[in-house]
Amino acid sequence: MRKFMVSLMASAFLMAGMDVMAAGDQDLFLSKCGSCHKKDGPAAVISPGEKAGAVWKKYFERARHPVDISNISAADMAKIVDFLVSHAADSEQPAAAIIPK
Ligand code: HEC
Repeated sequence: MRKFMVSLMASAFLMAGMDVMAAGDQDLFLSKCGSCHKKDGPAAVISPGEKAGAVWKKYFERARHPVDISNISAADMAKIVDFLVSHAADSEQPAAAIIPK
């Protein structure tokens, strides 16, 4: 029984780790989006928690962003959108202040 509990806990940790990986890439968000969206930067500070997940997806699918950000590769964009969605307003871990003000 004890062995069972230990392996149960180990797999819970493993799953928690996978969850972090699935949550997209905060560093990319900070470096790529944060280059403009920062305190005293050319664009307002933004955070994943200000929109719902579906809104974030549509925002970039429909190219609603007001300035050209096509220099961010599609692969990086996908990771950033994953990050935004997993910390969106309707996610389990909404994040309000990722970019320090
Ligand atoms: C080259 C500079 C630049 C980069 C890089 C950039 N943005 Fe922007 N963004 C702007 C500007 C300028 C605006 C319009 C002015 C404002 O909202 O401050 C804007 C507006 C926005 C808005 C609309 C704000 C609102 O009213 O809700 C969102 C959302 C947004 N950007 C998200 C992002 C995300 C996510 C990334 C990274 C994938 C990103 N931006 C990268 C410059 C940039």
